[in-house]
Amino acid sequence: MAKKTRTKKLIIGNWKMNPENLLQAKEIFLGIRKTARDLTRVQTVMCPPFVYISELNKLFHRERIALGAQDSFYEDTGSFTGQISPIMLKNVGATYVIIGHSERRALGETNELINKKVTKALRDGFRVVLCIGEKDRDSHGAYLEFLKTQLKECLAKLQKKDIEKLVIAYEPIWAIGKTDKEAMQPPQIYEMTIFIKKVLTDMFGNETAVAVPLLYGGSVSSKISNQILVEGQVNGLLVGKQSLNPEDFSLILKNANEI
Ligand code: PGA
Repeated sequence: MAKKTRTKKLIIGNWKMNPENLLQAKEIFLGIRKTARDLTRVQTVMCPPFVYISELNKLFHRERIALGAQDSFYEDTGSFTGQISPIMLKNVGATYVIIGHSERRALGETNELINKKVTKALRDGFRVVLCIGEKDRDSHGAYLEFLKTQLKECLAKLQKKDIEKLVIAYEPIWAIGKTDKEAMQPPQIYEMTIFIKKVLTDMFGNETAVAVPLLYGGSVSSKISNQILVEGQVNGLLVGKQSLNPEDFSLILKNANEI
C-alpha cells in the first residue's frame, strides 16, 4: 500500500468548450463549490471557457477553490486576433492556466509555441499546468522518448527558479474521453510518475523535480479516482467530462480529501 502524503491533492476540472451558457456554468460552479469549500486536504481548480471566468469569479472568495483558464498567449497585448494574455486572465480572477492540452496540440500547437506560452505564464505568476501525453503505445518504448522530448522542448530554457509554480499533467491521449474502464491502470500510472520525475530530475535536479506536482488525466471518474491517486502516486487529477457533473466531481473531491 502506498504511503499517505500530507500535501493537498490538486484536483482540476477542465470544462473544455462547455457548457453552452452562463446560467449553466454558474449552476455547475455552485454545485461544486458547496463541497469544495469545506475540504481542507484538496485544492480545487475549475477551468471554464474564458468567457465565464469573470462572472464565476464573483461567486466565491477563495474558499479553497481557484479559477483557471484553458490556454494563454505569450504577449501581454497587441495585434494577435483571438488571443488572450495571462495579464488579462489575472485581471478577471484566474490564477491557474492549462497549457499544451492535447486537444490544442491537435489543432496545431507545437512544443515550441507551448514553450513560449508556458514561459510567459510562469513569469506572470500563474500556476501553469503543462499537459503532456503520448498518442499511442508501442512495444519498444518510443512513447517514452516522445514524452521526454515534449518535456524538454516545452520547458526549454527555463531555470529551476522559473518552475516553482509548474504543474505537469500526464494525459495519455488514448485514455482521454473514454470510460473509466479504459483509463490508464494505476500501476502503469505509477510507472509514468517515476519516468516523468526522472526526466525532470535530469533537467532541474532532484529537489526541484520532487516539488513539481504531477497530475494524471484521462477518463477519471469517482469510481477510480482514489485508486489512481494512491496507487498511481500522483499529486492530483485533471478531470474532463466528470468535472461538468457536480455530483460526480464533488465525490472525486470528497474521496480525495479522505486520503
Ligand atoms: P476526460 O478529459 O476526463 O474527459 O477524459 C481529460 C482531459 O482531456 O483533460
